[in-house]
Amino acid sequence: MIVGAQWGDEGKGKVTDLLAERADVVIRFQGGNNAGHTIIRDGETYKFHLIPSGILYPGKICAIGNGVVIDPKVLTGEIDELRRRGVDISGLRISANAHLIMPYHVLLDTAGELKLGKLEIGTTRRGIGPCYADKAARLGIRVQDLLDEKILRKKIMAAMEPKQQMLRPFAKDPELDLQTMVQTYVAYGERLAPHIADTARICWAALDRDATVLFEGAQGAMLDLDHGTYPFVTSSNPVAGAASTGTGVGPRDIDEVWGIAKAYATRVGAGPFPTELDDEMGELLRERGGEVGTTTGRPRRTGWIDIVALRYAARLNTMTALVVTKLDVLAGIDPLRICVRYRHPDGAVFDEFPFHQSVVHGATAEYEELPGFEGEIGACRREQDLPPDARDYLNAISDHLGIPVVLVGVGPGRDQVIWMGREAEPRLRAAA
Ligand code: GDP
Ligand code: IMO
Ligand code: MG
Repeated sequence: MIVGAQWGDEGKGKVTDLLAERADVVIRFQGGNNAGHTIIRDGETYKFHLIPSGILYPGKICAIGNGVVIDPKVLTGEIDELRRRGVDISGLRISANAHLIMPYHVLLDTAGELKLGKLEIGTTRRGIGPCYADKAARLGIRVQDLLDEKILRKKIMAAMEPKQQMLRPFAKDPELDLQTMVQTYVAYGERLAPHIADTARICWAALDRDATVLFEGAQGAMLDLDHGTYPFVTSSNPVAGAASTGTGVGPRDIDEVWGIAKAYATRVGAGPFPTELDDEMGELLRERGGEVGTTTGRPRRTGWIDIVALRYAARLNTMTALVVTKLDVLAGIDPLRICVRYRHPDGAVFDEFPFHQSVVHGATAEYEELPGFEGEIGACRREQDLPPDARDYLNAISDHLGIPVVLVGVGPGRDQVIWMGREAEPRLRAAA
């Protein structure tokens, strides 16, 4: 399983693409098109919002699990774009139980943010929160409802009814017209029908024949609805445990959980970020790391790597290994800083992530300094090719977390990775 260990955008797409080669099924288990997963292959860039990042392998089963919320407009757009680029999408499967993002979810997301004003969460405004809210309220529309116009119409009416007041400002929006909505969604259903499937059963069948299922997480642990920096979180659970509910595969079937972390930290949207850099260094990281949101194009906030938050993520996910991406971005920066604890204004010190939101908001990061490393590392392919100070930096992270670093990213390209010596090989074999 691939999960985000920070605030999202750690490079999950690239790692999933890399591991998908050895997997038989790749499945997304939560989130929706708030995600933006980038893959760069042979100089070509692909950005996936809903389709699993394994789709570039012709015929590979790539499933969208029941825990995902699907905007069919975005999904059909993504399918069209891939077809246009000559990608075989015959392996795409869509859970019949996944919930659908409806036009009113998108409008309500925006309206909610506008209402919050300065207190906004900074959502992607893709309707994610309102869609999961309807799912919990049992007012959701599911993929299978697309296949029966009568049921679809009834369910949309029932779902819209309690929202009348909130939707009043959009009364004239043509997308909200019941007839139009039903027709549009029936048309989506016709297009998606060949891909609609029982995705849980597909995973079980693969596991029963000892094949490999790769779970692709979206967002990251610190955006988790239960464990993240609530309310500045997403509306699903990006932690490993959610893969079970989001696909139907029980926890005992999962044997490896790889957390993906950048060599520094970023966050898009509002909310506490103790290691944030508001200075030139932050700007340098943003510029060198190309830190602009894949989905919304917003500049990402940047900061030093945060061991307190990572240790929390490692525990929450029972991580078996860590992947550190974008090490190349840190080349030439001296010294490098690693946040090892938080300090509250009253003097209290936190080695572990504080459960109280006010403490996180008020926390200042305390750092350990390490010497930086010089030179371009984008061409390094073996651990021993890395400058000793770069290796020391990775070892420091691994030692603090008590988890091996198995893979390191040294550039955005597919081949720009280093499999780390002793740890990588057996794990890779086990995972395959
Ligand atoms: P995801 O949401 O976790 O899949 O990550 P995103 O795709 O939103 O953001 C990660 C960005 O970093 C993408 O633009 C990737 O192409 C890029 N990237 C991934 N790994 C590396 C790396 O090791 N070095 C550099 N420089 N860029 C990387
Ligand atoms: P990937 O999968 C980074 C953030 C938003 C906002 C908060 C809530 O590419 O890592 P939402 O639209 O989900 O209700 O917004 O979560 N967010 C992400 N940040 N990467 C993502 O996905 C994100 N998906 C949501 O910026 O702060
Ligand atoms: Mg992303």
